[in-house]
Amino acid sequence: MTPTELKSAFLTAYNQEADAVYFAPGRVNLIGEHTDYNGGSVFPCALSFGTYLLLRKNGGKTVRFRSLNQPEVTELGLDQLTTPLDKTWVNYPLGVFAQFIKRGIEIKEGYDILIWGNVPNGAGLSSSAALEVVTAYALNDQLGTNFNRTVLAQIGQKAEHEFAFVNCGIMDQFASANGAKDHAIHLNCDTLDFELVPVKLEGVKILISNTHSPHKLDSGAYNQRVAECKLAVEQLNKVRPLKYLAELTEAEFKSIETAITDVTAHKRARHVVGEVQRTADAVKALKAGDLVKFGKLMNASHVSLRDDYEVTGPELDTMAEEAWKIEGVIGSRMTGGGFGGCTVSLVKDEAIDTFIDKVGKAYEAKIGIKPEFYIAEIGNGACKLS
Ligand code: GLA
Repeated sequence: MTPTELKSAFLTAYNQEADAVYFAPGRVNLIGEHTDYNGGSVFPCALSFGTYLLLRKNGGKTVRFRSLNQPEVTELGLDQLTTPLDKTWVNYPLGVFAQFIKRGIEIKEGYDILIWGNVPNGAGLSSSAALEVVTAYALNDQLGTNFNRTVLAQIGQKAEHEFAFVNCGIMDQFASANGAKDHAIHLNCDTLDFELVPVKLEGVKILISNTHSPHKLDSGAYNQRVAECKLAVEQLNKVRPLKYLAELTEAEFKSIETAITDVTAHKRARHVVGEVQRTADAVKALKAGDLVKFGKLMNASHVSLRDDYEVTGPELDTMAEEAWKIEGVIGSRMTGGGFGGCTVSLVKDEAIDTFIDKVGKAYEAKIGIKPEFYIAEIGNGACKLS
């Protein structure tokens, strides 16, 4: 839908014009998976699709939430904005309101809010982060709070922790807040320092393949990985003080890895330490224009996420493994939290049609689900559209 269509949908929903329209994008991560909450670095890009939020001050004492993607309408009093509701999409924007209130900001007036998003849900492309960030951006503008984009990302992350109960890292919200057209963000998730790296892919596209797998990342499996990494850090602390797994080079890890007696925690840690190195190498390779190396690192990342981190599953593995067979595929891996969702591939222009045809057919024959493919356009971070 265009912003004009959204404005007329707002008018239909609330019988009043919207005061403002905001947008925040979804993201695709090129490499650096499950490193963010381990103090490592990540390399995501904001996408051109995302979540739109329209609002008006309604002059009353309630906030009304509607979405064109969901049937229900939720109306909450200004004194009801700090408690999560029973399973509903409203918890994402509501969690953001709660974070503003927690930071001492008073919400004095009600709002009518309308949401619409075109990030496929459950695809691991951060539809929830886009919703959190667009809400944080809109409130920041409406309330004149002047939080910078990094703080807006942190507000979104906290909303996810406290209202969606997923102990996620900062990557998704940060990419949605700070993305820049035709750039990937090399973000150090410990210090939150970042560099925008131009993604100039002559004759190559970023292709996203949606497995449409029904088992999307559930908070249980994600939180379990976070806990396993914490256990690895605790056990390593017996031989070397450290806060995050990402502090270790691969050589340092090898010299102390036997301190991790839990077999699962050991595998998780091995992935993280390796992935941190791969991410650093991949960023260097991209800057040097060495896409072949970048692609090999993407493939190695997938293998590690499959064997050591165990967050892939037959759908993502089939999608990546079928992609690896196609001539003209530079690299392919799962992206995001895992289990279901999408892979991201670098594909030469002339191989795109063959990829979609062959990988699509092979995937459907094996898994029994029709996948979907999108050519990623790298867009800007959150903004006010009008
Ligand atoms: C999800 C989380 C992110 C990150 C990725 C895995 O998308 O929200 O914080 O941990 O999984 O890299």
